[in-house]
Amino acid sequence: MAVIKSLVLILCVVTSTLATPLEFRATTTAPFVSESSPNPIGKLYPGNITGTLNGTIAVVPIPYKLARKIIPSQWGILTKAYQQLLPGFPKDSYPLIVKSLLDHDVGLNGTQLIPDFQTVRVNFPFVDILNDGYSSFQWGKYLLITESNEIGIDAIREYGSIPVPSLFKPDFQAYKYARPRSKTIYAEARANTSACADATTKFSPFNRHGAWPLSFYINATNQPVFGDPAKGCDNQILFYNTTLTTGKNAPVHVRGDIFIKAPYAHVPNDRTFRNVFGIKVDVAFLENNYYECETLKGYHGTGSGDGYVA
Ligand SMILES: *[C@@H]1O[C@H](CO)[C@@H](O)[C@H](O)[C@H]1NC(C)=O
Ligand SMILES: *[C@@H]1O[C@H](CO)[C@@H](O)[C@H](O)[C@H]1NC(C)=O
Ligand SMILES: *[C@@H]1O[C@H](CO)[C@@H](O)[C@H](O)[C@H]1NC(C)=O
Ligand SMILES: *[C@@H]1O[C@H](CO)[C@@H](O)[C@H](O)[C@H]1NC(C)=O
Ligand SMILES: *[C@@H]1O[C@H](CO)[C@@H](O)[C@H](O)[C@H]1NC(C)=O
Ligand SMILES: *[C@@H]1O[C@H](CO)[C@@H](O)[C@H](O)[C@H]1NC(C)=O
Repeated sequence: MAVIKSLVLILCVVTSTLATPLEFRATTTAPFVSESSPNPIGKLYPGNITGTLNGTIAVVPIPYKLARKIIPSQWGILTKAYQQLLPGFPKDSYPLIVKSLLDHDVGLNGTQLIPDFQTVRVNFPFVDILNDGYSSFQWGKYLLITESNEIGIDAIREYGSIPVPSLFKPDFQAYKYARPRSKTIYAEARANTSACADATTKFSPFNRHGAWPLSFYINATNQPVFGDPAKGCDNQILFYNTTLTTGKNAPVHVRGDIFIKAPYAHVPNDRTFRNVFGIKVDVAFLENNYYECETLKGYHGTGSGDGYVA
């Protein structure tokens, strides 16, 4: 048995091409402590679901032609909108967004509703589902999500997306540092039907010129998410102005490698995307579920929560 296990490990490292030094959390009797700070807006909006997202959000440039082939042809792509926000972005590319996040402290009026869970989300932003030429939405077809989060798994299905029940490393923490005092961070997800990782991320801080501006991330991550527009849109508003995301907790620009197995990134084969830019961030959110997508017309990802007609 032990021999088989180490064989699987070796095969996994080879196929994922990113050797990650992560171990599954050792069985311990110590109580579980989340490293993520508490939700700072839990009681500010007592009638709405709020929580925090801690992890990494990265921009993966893919050929525009490929994006156009993947995104169903009845929806436009707001090319000018993302080009405005991404100075220097290659003209023939499209910014795929890959998020590896821990949902923490999700609840209503300060009471936790669901236990923390993790996700890897691959989103296609700037999709013009209303064909009005200016309202941006993000399409998410697959979502790797903690296998025990049945509420989340059902919700994803109701939106018309495909939930992939998964296991994460490190579990129930946003990421892990490569070594003590190292600034390199890792995270890994695998479908509970897979023997090896389906998605891995490895990032280091990148403070030189060239990283994409924070305004791009704010804009893209606030776009309503849909799987099938007929089934409604998820209006998750990210608050980049709380203590979680400012001062000593300000987002950190990072650069690194992402490995994703097919079909989760929609590209035909397993892919490693190297030297992509992203941010390491912890951010509070407020979530309005199952809005009719049409009611979010004109919502530009202002993140203000008042840019739309509910
Ligand atoms: C986010 O998670 C990381 C890894 O668990 C942790 O080190 C960090 O303190 C968290 N961020 C905040 C603002 O709590
Ligand atoms: C929120 O909780 C507070 C107590 O912490 C309570 O006084 C208030 O009525 C609650 N608000 C709602 C809308 O449930
Ligand atoms: C909170 O939820 C209500 C509906 O339940 C909605 O009308 C309101 O816009 C939400 N608040 C924000 C800030 O989105
Ligand atoms: C994977 O997770 C789903 C959802 O919790 C569960 O129904 C299924 O039995 C799990 N499969 C395996 C192989 O563990
Ligand atoms: C998001 O980007 C679009 C396109 O540039 C723009 O119309 C919109 O105002 C932006 N929103 C914010 C908050 O920057
Ligand atoms: C913080 O950001 C949220 C979401 O963008 C917004 O609704 C709120 O008004 C902002 N708060 C302050 C104090 O600026």
